[in-house]
Amino acid sequence: MKYSLFILPAIAAATAINFNNPQRLEIREKVATDRFRIFSDDEPVLPHNVQPYGNTDVLKRDKVEAYGSSKRNDSSDSLDPERFEKPSPISEFCKENDHFIENSGDMYNLQAQCDTILGNLHFKDYNDALIDFGKLRSVQGSIFIENCSALVKIEGHKLERIRQTFSLRSLTSLVSIDLSSLKDVRVINWKVLPILNEALISNEVNGLSSLTISDTALPIIEGFKNVEDVDVFEINNNRYLESVKANIKHVRQKLSVHANARETELEMPRLISAENITVRDTSSVYFPKLEEVGSSLEFIQNHFTELRISSLKTVGGTLGIIDNGNLKLANFNNVTDIQGGLMVANNTRLEKIDFFSKLRQIGGAIYFEGKFNDTDFPQLKLVKGSAFVKTNSGSMDCSKWTTPKSGRSIVRGGKISCISGRRQKAQSVSQDGSVLSETDSEYDDTSEFGNDNAGSGSFAGKAQSGSTIKKTPSILWILTASLIGALGHYFS
Ligand SMILES: *[C@@H]1O[C@H](CO)[C@@H](O)[C@H](O)[C@H]1NC(C)=O
Ligand SMILES: *[C@@H]1O[C@H](CO)[C@@H](O)[C@H](O)[C@H]1NC(C)=O
Ligand SMILES: *[C@@H]1O[C@H](CO)[C@@H](O)[C@H](O)[C@H]1NC(C)=O
Ligand SMILES: *[C@@H]1O[C@H](CO)[C@@H](O)[C@H](O)[C@H]1NC(C)=O
Ligand SMILES: *[C@@H]1O[C@H](CO)[C@@H](O)[C@H](O)[C@H]1NC(C)=O
Ligand SMILES: *[C@@H]1O[C@H](CO)[C@@H](O)[C@H](O)[C@H]1NC(C)=O
Repeated sequence: MKYSLFILPAIAAATAINFNNPQRLEIREKVATDRFRIFSDDEPVLPHNVQPYGNTDVLKRDKVEAYGSSKRNDSSDSLDPERFEKPSPISEFCKENDHFIENSGDMYNLQAQCDTILGNLHFKDYNDALIDFGKLRSVQGSIFIENCSALVKIEGHKLERIRQTFSLRSLTSLVSIDLSSLKDVRVINWKVLPILNEALISNEVNGLSSLTISDTALPIIEGFKNVEDVDVFEINNNRYLESVKANIKHVRQKLSVHANARETELEMPRLISAENITVRDTSSVYFPKLEEVGSSLEFIQNHFTELRISSLKTVGGTLGIIDNGNLKLANFNNVTDIQGGLMVANNTRLEKIDFFSKLRQIGGAIYFEGKFNDTDFPQLKLVKGSAFVKTNSGSMDCSKWTTPKSGRSIVRGGKISCISGRRQKAQSVSQDGSVLSETDSEYDDTSEFGNDNAGSGSFAGKAQSGSTIKKTPSILWILTASLIGALGHYFS
């Protein structure tokens, strides 16, 4: 319990900081639960994590020297913002392809000389606690900040544009990002920022084509109101994440939200199409306008009780609804065509698989497993792959699948297997749907369903847990939250 001395003042400080800011209000509430977690956590807190405290004095001293030695001069009046309104010729220095920034003095010099830089900014071996972009307005290349273990805060009130990539990686002390003018950035790629709990960029941000936020302490990710079309939208391993909201309409490649907090709610009220969607470990999903998924659509190990994707019409690949232990009500009633397989497995509270009332065709195989006691596909005319239906409920009637009304099976992939309780019915069918052979037997647990039909929908990579949350003791960000208060005074 030797950390309690630090924790209590830290909570007081964090609470004070939080008072006026609704976004931070979330964080304040977090403090209480985190504290609870710390006390109940058996894991020792690594000494390494206390580092920000130990460093404070050193950081302050470095700061003084850095600013003292830089060209802070009254002639900096000539760098008056108005000067930058007029287009001025860009100096050779500002045109260099790459700038390597090692300390706050370098950054100070750069922003004093350049309103715009044409190349990239790299923060290498940067030992200070603050990156302040100062008067810099525009970076035509990228900004890369990596492995700066002393870095606590990134700010830049004038920075409006990062033409290419804004990459942050392995910044273990970073708590806050304040770039409230940033409204034009192409790629946001933030990974391993384990105590980052606040990041402000302009709500008007434009031109974003790829967003990756992984392993942060952000409680909320939202506000992309002008972003309609992206290639990648990927949010994972953010263990305090409560809410993800975006107005994106089209995701050209990958939409993936997984391994965040159990409470994570995902809302994309305008989403119309996406190439691939993977949603894991969320507590709710809101895709009211989703019509088309180009390739695969997966909902795995979520905690929601309802899943309504009722405007969805087509899925170009496999649709998987797997291991969602609370799911009771699903609605995919506008889906007409699934070009890959359909897998509905181990959603243990789902009583019926009857939420595909318009589905006509499945291009791959069917795999249903669970405790359901009925399946109902009133419009289904063709399953190109095989069918495997297995339920613990002995009351499911397998003849629906093995004794088709028309005499011909809708399953054309060679094999039908239906297990209900201890009874198993299996059939081989030809490509035109006629039944070649049939068995009805006691179910033997050791027999496996082989996906042995060439090209007829495999379910590779199914329900493995994607939870790779790194367990970083949460004491770290609480300590740094109070540290920020102190540093804030210092830098202003
Ligand atoms: C400070 O300003 C004076 C004149 O205003 C100038 O001569 C001097 O070179 C400046 N010093 C630096 C370090 O820029
Ligand atoms: C950052 O640190 C990781 C691990 O220590 C290392 O693999 C990587 O090359 C480093 N990157 C830079 C730019 O120093
Ligand atoms: C979409 O998912 C499929 C199957 O997992 C994969 O083969 C394909 O490369 C993915 N496409 C994109 C654009 O990520
Ligand atoms: C289902 O599709 C029909 C016709 O395409 C449409 O009128 C209806 O609004 C859709 N239902 C939902 C919930 O989107
Ligand atoms: C299936 O289960 C539900 C709820 O447990 C029950 O109401 C229904 O009668 C069952 N149907 C069959 C065919 O056993
Ligand atoms: C469903 O659960 C059973 C029993 O836990 C497991 O053997 C099977 O692999 C699971 N199926 C899927 C698709 O996750």
